[in-house]
Amino acid sequence: MSAPIDEVAAGVAAVAIAQDSPDAGGEQVVTPWDVAGGADGKIDYAKLVDDFGCSTIDDALIQRIEKATGCRAHPFLRRGMFFAHRELDQIVTAYEKGEKFYLYTGRGPSSEALHLGHLIPFHFTKWLQEAFKVPLVVQLTDDEKFLWKSLKLEDARRLARENAKDIIACGFDPRRTFIFSDVNYMCTPFYLNVLKIAKCVTFNAARGIFGFAGESNIGQIGFPPTQAAPAFPDCFPHLFGTDKKSLRCLIPCAIDQDPYFRMTRDAAPRIGGHKPALIESRFFPALKGESGKMSASDPSSAIYVTDTAKQIKDKVNKYAFSGGRLTVEEHREKGGDLDVDISWKWLNFFMDDDEELKAIGDAYGSGAMLSGEIKKKLVECLTPMIVAHQEARARVSDAVVDQFFSTAPRDFPSMFGELSGDAPAPAEGPVSFQGGEHLVASNAPVARTDGGGAEGGADTAVQAGGGDAPLSKNALKKLQKEKEIAEKKAKKAAEKAAAKAQ
Ligand code: TRP
Repeated sequence: MSAPIDEVAAGVAAVAIAQDSPDAGGEQVVTPWDVAGGADGKIDYAKLVDDFGCSTIDDALIQRIEKATGCRAHPFLRRGMFFAHRELDQIVTAYEKGEKFYLYTGRGPSSEALHLGHLIPFHFTKWLQEAFKVPLVVQLTDDEKFLWKSLKLEDARRLARENAKDIIACGFDPRRTFIFSDVNYMCTPFYLNVLKIAKCVTFNAARGIFGFAGESNIGQIGFPPTQAAPAFPDCFPHLFGTDKKSLRCLIPCAIDQDPYFRMTRDAAPRIGGHKPALIESRFFPALKGESGKMSASDPSSAIYVTDTAKQIKDKVNKYAFSGGRLTVEEHREKGGDLDVDISWKWLNFFMDDDEELKAIGDAYGSGAMLSGEIKKKLVECLTPMIVAHQEARARVSDAVVDQFFSTAPRDFPSMFGELSGDAPAPAEGPVSFQGGEHLVASNAPVARTDGGGAEGGADTAVQAGGGDAPLSKNALKKLQKEKEIAEKKAKKAAEKAAAKAQ
């Protein structure tokens, strides 16, 4: 590779830059809501890893992933865009031993159209899902965006559904993917986790982690457990059953989300769950240069998934920050500056072919290739990708969205391992997006209630986390009965659907 990955500079993806943040004062600031580079405007990722206490992903870990999955690592992994982790090695070890896990990621639906940076975690998550052959839950935090942005709640909910179409267009399989909006899905199993986590976190701790202040609205202060909870499988009994410890969780995210999951990992043992593992990305550099901001209010600052071929070409030519020299003579002599050139950085994200990429880096870096020429390469790389996205999105009907949002109980074992054939067409008729204690996946792990299980049954959780009384024997019996009925119903529905499909 011609440019060390460490030099893929900080731009900003889904976060706002707090350049004028009063506390920044030349110090870099990274929270889920504000990202500001240090004095030079750049993010010092080594410092971030140090400050946050996560680890960097090394070649040995990448090789272990390739070996365990039998898949060549995704370019985002090979080229260091996903560069940091927490206990990813432990997930791989568990996977090697045949233990199951699920993926959890999310998006705050705050804008109509996604830009390229927004797609990165989803493309990578799709690769993880296919490599490991595991289920995925996607949280749309319409509540979070309502609480933080000047956005009507109705609009946040509508955007959640619109953004879901772009997420689905990345190619997830509905048989093992569940997408939910917080406002729609918040239900007893989810809320039980929210409450237990919330009780573990003092206001002082939250202020330390997130920087809450007296002016923060109390919805914001109360929100973090809602993003934490989906890291525990019993939030989703219709997918994973009722045992909090039955599955480990791996969270792909941008590194600005780390504070949420540091909090989650602290709370995990206290509520009787596994600590979720994390795989974390750098920020995607903005079109106008590494320390710039990609913002919905400045359409020239980013490439959107809705842009036309002409818009892509015009924006790249006009705005992509260039490391080219002032004159052709100077450029031929010194070569382009790969450290700052956005076309080069973006090609590193999106060009699959390692050899072609290297050839471009060598030619541009030596001066044989001019700025206009590397821009052309970028346009040729981006245009088919965005056209393909637009075509895939156009195929996502309302019924398909409903299919991904549906809380109908699944068959637990069938979400892992190889899937055969194509995904079924969405069912006709009304679909529920609401979860419930009694919607339990068939053949799924069930919480142990005898108290004698390994560290983590439901009772342990209850005693350690919240001090609320465990359910009575009768109540448990009733739950079991209801579960059996739900299973039978689910089985019948599945048979019916299968019959129909033939
Ligand atoms: N807070 C994230 C955002 O604003 C959305 C989100 C929710 C998320 N849950 C997540 C992101 C899990 C990554 C992983 O974009």
